[in-house]
Amino acid sequence: MTAPVRILVTGATGAVGGAVMRALEAAGHRPHGVSRRGPVGPRQHTWRAGRQEPPPALRRAWDVVVHCAADTRWNLPEEQAEQANVAPLRAALRLAEPRTHFIHLSSSYVTGLAGGIDSASPTAYRNSYEWSKAATERLVHAERDSADIVRFPVVMGARADGLLDRYSGFFWLPSSLCSGAVPAMVAEEKALLDIVSTDDVAAHVTRLVAGGPPTGRRLSILGRGDGAQPVTGVFETVRAALNSWRAEHGVPPLDRLPSMTPEQWNRFYLPFAEEHLDRAQLLRVTAFRAYQGYLSVTEPFDVTHRVPDTVQVLHRSIRRWAETHENLARRVPRAWR
Ligand SMILES: NC(=O)c1ccc[n+]([C@@H]2O[C@H](COP(=O)([O-])OP(=O)(O)OC[C@H]3O[C@@H](n4cnc5c(N)ncnc54)[C@H](OP(=O)(O)O)[C@@H]3O)[C@@H](O)[C@H]2O)c1
Repeated sequence: MTAPVRILVTGATGAVGGAVMRALEAAGHRPHGVSRRGPVGPRQHTWRAGRQEPPPALRRAWDVVVHCAADTRWNLPEEQAEQANVAPLRAALRLAEPRTHFIHLSSSYVTGLAGGIDSASPTAYRNSYEWSKAATERLVHAERDSADIVRFPVVMGARADGLLDRYSGFFWLPSSLCSGAVPAMVAEEKALLDIVSTDDVAAHVTRLVAGGPPTGRRLSILGRGDGAQPVTGVFETVRAALNSWRAEHGVPPLDRLPSMTPEQWNRFYLPFAEEHLDRAQLLRVTAFRAYQGYLSVTEPFDVTHRVPDTVQVLHRSIRRWAETHENLARRVPRAWR
């Protein structure tokens, strides 16, 4: 009888880590998970990686470490982003032996504005999240002779029902549409928004585990590539999903917002807004600026593993968000003046 593979998944309570845990369990493994806040099931451990020493239960010989722990907020000051993303990786690397199959989860956006991960300058990236994730990839290259690095773009829920363990990042969009926090859809006309399902990432990781550690460092990039949905289509899918849920709950539909390019927004709308909006409105408008970079990517990602279509995944995930955030999904936006 072969010994069971000892697998540790960091960030096991997160959107991606939760799906990875379930996929590994479905493949017959008994993975251990860690998170800051701790147990949500069997074989789950509490550990603030990078801030505390690992508890004794984690100090054992792991065959596989899948590192999903991260803080995906874009707006952390650089020092905090480093502490949130690079320090936990450094701590996870210390739990791995040279023979351990180390699988590091990263982002397709890690190549930032310069198209690569080599620059350590924050100006080469859209935000401190990308900058710190690029630093994590460089750290994996520096510390490991063998490792898998898996990049993927925006993550939605399960293909069957849109289930996600945690809603963050992209879900500002349905929330903002329902609350009326954004007055317009700002995107380049030809922009694409690449999306994968948590199932795609979890299935890929499970396949990597089955195949064993690579010789050297191996990069996989998951996504739809040039088959990604245009951003305008994404907006419409989100609105259609919200409106189908709202119709079933007797809530008026959301109108289509006016569209404009980032240039039109920044040159014509913002200067006007700064003069006429109140402080609260201005804060919302300024916060919205942070997302523009992601709605202006016109070059498709070069993918190594093309995932099946994700339009339905997006639709189901947004409906699922509405079911789990009923108060937000029921809001009726007030018109901008
Ligand atoms: N979500 C996306 O759209 C997306 C897109 C591309 C790439 N990614 C990458 O996918 C990976 C997983 O992201 P996600 O979306 O699943 O994130 P998430 O939903 O925010 O979950 C983060 C997980 O990491 C844990 N964690 C964070 N800091 C930790 C620390 N210092 N020590 C231990 N656990 C820690 C959290 O634990 P608590 O439960 O205690 O908070 C949680 O389990 C990340 O590498 C991210 O960069 C995500």
